[in-house]
Amino acid sequence: MGTRRILTYGAPILRQPTRRVTDLDGDLQRLIDDMVETMYAAPGLGLAANQVGSPHRLFVANPAENRDPAKLLIMLNPELVETEGEILFEEGCLSIPDFREDVRRARRALLRGIDRNGRPLEVEGEQLLARIFQHEMDHLNGLFFVDRLSPAKRFLLGMKLKRAFLDPKT
Ligand code: NI
Repeated sequence: MGTRRILTYGAPILRQPTRRVTDLDGDLQRLIDDMVETMYAAPGLGLAANQVGSPHRLFVANPAENRDPAKLLIMLNPELVETEGEILFEEGCLSIPDFREDVRRARRALLRGIDRNGRPLEVEGEQLLARIFQHEMDHLNGLFFVDRLSPAKRFLLGMKLKRAFLDPKT
């Protein structure tokens, strides 16, 4: 087990849709363990595989501040099957350190996928958990929370992001 480096805004793999997991082999199990450790060390509430450079469609999350192991969620091949309501709340991302913005998300979300052993997994989240689900699903589809902002906000933020992550020397 170990932590892996978290890629930041500008890394090409973060803009690529991830691929469905088919092999639940030892390499994948190690990746999952490393992702959990990396998420806790960051610390963060969720982490998608492409954030540590893996093309697999999977994320880990734990909304509990005390890292209650019972709240740890490991989801492979997740699909967002249902959403409801709307809520505006501040959001950040381990791949965009020091940037936080209010993002509009569904209040409730239902996810369907499989666990690390290949068993069907269905999880419903509200509020914070629903937000984490939608944030991680965005990552797995090559998106960032900043893509959800209004065009005007995105334009202003885009220049700051460019300066912070894409060409920091200019
Ligand atoms: Ni993120």
